[in-house]
Amino acid sequence: MKRRTAEPYKIKAVEPLKMLNEQERKEALKKAGYNTFLINSEDVYIDLLTDSGTTAMSDRQWGTLMTGDEAYAGSKSWYKLEQAVKEIYGYNFVIPTHQGRGAENLLSQMKIKEGDYVPGNMYFTTTRAHQELNGATFVDIIIDEAHDSLYDHPFKGNVDLSKLESLIHEVGAEKIPYVCIAVTVNLAGGQPVSMKNMRDVYELCQKHGIDVMYDATRCVENAFFIQEREEGYTDKSIKDILKEMFSYSDGCTMSGKKDCLVNTGGFLAMNDEKLYTRARELVVLYEGMPSYGGLAGRDMEAMAQGIYESIDDNYIKHRIHQVRYLGEQLIEAGIPVVKPIGGHAVFLDAREFLPHLKHEELPAQSLAAALYLDSGVRSMERGIVSGGRNKVTGENNKPKLELVRLTIPRRVYTNNHMDVVADSVISLYEKRDQISGLKMTYEPPTLRFFNARFEPLSPSGELMTNETSSTTT
Ligand code: F0G
Repeated sequence: MKRRTAEPYKIKAVEPLKMLNEQERKEALKKAGYNTFLINSEDVYIDLLTDSGTTAMSDRQWGTLMTGDEAYAGSKSWYKLEQAVKEIYGYNFVIPTHQGRGAENLLSQMKIKEGDYVPGNMYFTTTRAHQELNGATFVDIIIDEAHDSLYDHPFKGNVDLSKLESLIHEVGAEKIPYVCIAVTVNLAGGQPVSMKNMRDVYELCQKHGIDVMYDATRCVENAFFIQEREEGYTDKSIKDILKEMFSYSDGCTMSGKKDCLVNTGGFLAMNDEKLYTRARELVVLYEGMPSYGGLAGRDMEAMAQGIYESIDDNYIKHRIHQVRYLGEQLIEAGIPVVKPIGGHAVFLDAREFLPHLKHEELPAQSLAAALYLDSGVRSMERGIVSGGRNKVTGENNKPKLELVRLTIPRRVYTNNHMDVVADSVISLYEKRDQISGLKMTYEPPTLRFFNARFEPLSPSGELMTNETSSTTT
């Protein structure tokens, strides 16, 4: 008999949700120009837009808020955070920042020179933007399999060492200020990197005198996959796995809004004292004193506590299993999703889901809008709209992956919520031929996905061309 598991927490405070009826959702969607970013959060039933800053804090974290030391300099709360980062991540030096991109800004400014190359295992939007802003060219060195949504690979976030070696050979090690390794890889579907791969990358880089900097945003999720899948790690604790992972790097940027279990915060960490000394100067310009970096003392307290809670084996096991619980229901129903199911989200393959729509008819945007209309579930388009336009030709970039991301916030929803999401996606799949494509009616010049507006292409002007909703909500 298969034993079922449940959330490793009890619920102490609840936030009641407004449940709009179908007509109200239709109006809300129209008002938002069919863009899920523009829907008011109070009109959303289950919010799977992002796992960033949407975490539920624990009673202990809420408790620490009262003990936050709000001193401008030398705050007690800062020393607690610094201690937690040093103890769990193992780096010598830490600089707090308001969130991950604050750390990316400091790192890119300090290390990159015009004409440099920064190799990475697929890009993340803000990370690459900071690298480019400082004059570097990003080079994708992830294994080819990561670009194939159906290819099942236990460590689909791995670096292809031959790609890295050829780049070093081609441009020279002195043109590569650092290699950026994301653990896990968000845009590949939350896919992990193996310990062996991290070790190999580090060895190769050391041979050439190149630093390895991690994007540690979802490192605890990565550690869980190593424990689950990599030989020799089954009996190791998440804490020990993390320590070993970070030993194969020279520093990291961190968005605390994910695996540090807080609503805001981040940091830059490193082993090199010279780099740290420069970072202490630069952080004052962009974030604040090196003892708060844009954070309130109470935020730093909550993040220190969150870092310790995140390495609890029961917490992280449930976290990954909850995402998988949703993903496996969809796979069983024959829904096209990115495989294997990653750490923080289930990604629907919108081109497979809506084969009657051309790429220009924005399948992922249409599917995200239809999902909200069906059940009030909010998701995020990660496809042609997010891809933007080619700066030179003005043509739409056409990313290979046209996805809808169902991102699961940490400790917020129960498995019953996952069932509601699965039912809605499956019901939509059954009537997928009724989902109309969209056209963009307003296109902002930069990062268009945030504020763009759309209209259905169907002659009736409706998103569902023959509407009969099967949901009860
Ligand atoms: N790196 C990765 C892999 C991320 O996923 C994010 C944010 C960042 C860096 C930037 O961190 O938001 O704290 O400044 N990802 C969010 C998301 C926004 O929805 O995937 P930040």
